[in-house]
Amino acid sequence: MKQQKNILIGLLCTIAIGSQFCSGKESISPVTTTTTTTSDAPVLPTTPYNYSPAFPAHIAAALGPNDNTPATNAITDNGATLGRVLFYDKTLSKTNTVSCASCHQPTLSFSDSAVKSKGFAGGLTKRHSMPLLNVRFYRSGKMFWDERANTLEEQVLMPIQDLTEMGLTLDELQQKVAAKSYYPALFEKAFGSTQITTDRISRALAQFVRSIVTTQSKYDQVKQGLATFTPDERDGEQLFLNAGTITCGACHTPPMFITSAPQAPFALLDPTDLGINNQNRFKSSSLRNIANTAPYFHNGTIASLDAMLSGVNGNPIPQHTIAPQDRARMLAFLQTLTDQTTLAEPRFSNPFR
Ligand code: HEC
Ligand code: HEC
Repeated sequence: MKQQKNILIGLLCTIAIGSQFCSGKESISPVTTTTTTTSDAPVLPTTPYNYSPAFPAHIAAALGPNDNTPATNAITDNGATLGRVLFYDKTLSKTNTVSCASCHQPTLSFSDSAVKSKGFAGGLTKRHSMPLLNVRFYRSGKMFWDERANTLEEQVLMPIQDLTEMGLTLDELQQKVAAKSYYPALFEKAFGSTQITTDRISRALAQFVRSIVTTQSKYDQVKQGLATFTPDERDGEQLFLNAGTITCGACHTPPMFITSAPQAPFALLDPTDLGINNQNRFKSSSLRNIANTAPYFHNGTIASLDAMLSGVNGNPIPQHTIAPQDRARMLAFLQTLTDQTTLAEPRFSNPFR
């Protein structure tokens, strides 16, 4: 495969000598790839990455009371490494065309810019994909917009078996993973033996997803005294915490802007999807990186934050429309939650090249 690509690049380069395209490093060294048979194995560091870095104090304080990590599945570096490989491995779908990352893209905060995502046979998901950030801070541990999975460990096996998303039975999953030469060693490092079980696959995937915690936004720098808000950002934070009778922060609780126990009830206006226990309710994932995860809401019908705050298209929840004079400040504050640095860390990146 790689060789073919290099030959193609070489051909293109002879046609367009000196073009910028040819200065890419791939075209320079075709020789090094010719030695052995091409392998589809993931590229991993000899010493695993650290998946449990120390959190800044304001985040560490929130983790204790909100962490949904079960005692039986603490994050280990080798466990999360295996989870990372599984997360990006298209082997986990019936047609070898879709991985978790197809619908949870790292550059999009592990979400998808499409309103509905495409599964292994081109079918569309029923709801909009969710960003997988700071998932471990959702105390109840319940997953999906309608909270139908009780734990993350339970959730991660569901897309694999979903008839639209990845389309495998658990037996097929186990067989397909076992058939890949690179997995036994990864299971041994993670769990002490080469045995490949769906339980271990579930635990490793959950460890990887739980390890995705954003800690390097402007908001975090301000909370650590390393930066200051602009006047608009500061006023926006006050609005977020204090505006109206029900504040944003009551349902999107700082510092991770997520809570499984929102302090206020709300009336959801979606006649086609009744959500949690058919009660017209949905969960919200972390609002961190929210400027990077459009479109919004469980049905993906709100195209931008500005549209949401302006009430364009009608918000599923009325509390999301705010006065025109407040919008710029609210937007300025929400943008301080963006952290592209964490998303770009190698430990979260695609190990298949
Ligand atoms: C074809 C697209 C697609 C694929 C593939 C996919 N997901 Fe998802 N994911 C979604 C959609 C859509 C939702 C929201 C579905 C709902 O709530 O009904 C979701 C929700 C989730 C959630 C819930 C997050 C929360 O805060 O409640 C997690 C966790 C998750 N996916 C992890 C994974 C993992 C791990 C894989 C791979 C094993 C995966 N997904 C594969 C589309 C996909
Ligand atoms: C009463 C609880 C509540 C209040 C108050 C509230 N929200 Fe929400 N918010 C939610 C829920 C629940 C969702 C997910 C709803 C859905 O998808 O149907 C949500 C979704 C969002 C989303 C889209 C998230 C995504 O991933 O698609 C943003 C952005 C947002 N809220 C910002 C705000 C702001 C800003 C305020 C204050 C002006 C606010 N919220 C007030 C409960 C609330």
